[in-house]
Amino acid sequence: MFSPAVPLASKRLLEVLHAFRVSPQVASTSRSFSTALNYHIDSPDNNPDMRWEFSEANKERVKEILSHYPSNYKQSAVIPLLDLAQQQHGGWLPVSAMNAVAKIIEVAPIRVYEVATFYSMFNRTKVGKYHLLVCGTTPCMIRGSREIEEALLKHLGVKRNEVTKDGLFSVGEMECMGCCVNAPMITVADYSKGSEGYTYNYYEDVTPKRVIEIVEMLRRGETPPVGTQNPLRIKSGPAGGNTTLLGEPRPPPCRDLDAS
Ligand code: FES
Repeated sequence: MFSPAVPLASKRLLEVLHAFRVSPQVASTSRSFSTALNYHIDSPDNNPDMRWEFSEANKERVKEILSHYPSNYKQSAVIPLLDLAQQQHGGWLPVSAMNAVAKIIEVAPIRVYEVATFYSMFNRTKVGKYHLLVCGTTPCMIRGSREIEEALLKHLGVKRNEVTKDGLFSVGEMECMGCCVNAPMITVADYSKGSEGYTYNYYEDVTPKRVIEIVEMLRRGETPPVGTQNPLRIKSGPAGGNTTLLGEPRPPPCRDLDAS
């Protein structure tokens, strides 16, 4: 029970925190960010003087991407070009890569920074070769995404958005990835094979135990089966099989047009 000395508004807040099992100390002292902090400070491996260009193979892909847009609207290619640059650069975008994209699409660099800072799929600090993204939106949260994230962070010995010492893994948060029917889910952005072998795979119906197994399979160079991890479910169907619409659908009733 709450002390009568606690003002009504504070009491209500404590009730809400209790309902969501958040301790008042945690709520008042820590703030978590989905992506790493959004400011740039020059560093030896991230500064505008660094030389950065697309690889020869990717220069061909840049031409192909640009061919999708009218030549006077090159700037429309900003997102696919940033995506390609990120894949080439091991999962993150140094400022010199963003400048290279700005040059290709003939816009001021700020126009590219605006896009890269807005979309959370663009990382502007280093991530692991396998960047694990836990869905943090309500359906996944209700189905245990906090426990999934805790299990991953504990197993890997990192905080959110930190990279493991061997450079293999990092854990971030993403908002709804459209897979709520099989919540909770995580995505693995795999930058281990460069832009040629890049994949972005969904793992659904995960449990704290299963995400650790997935991590260890990735560490061994294996490819865990994507999609639902619940053996009772086929794709997004009900676990255990269908419960409705079990027979052949009946044809719609037809009026006998010849009857008078
Ligand atoms: S809430 Fe997690 S996929 Fe939609």
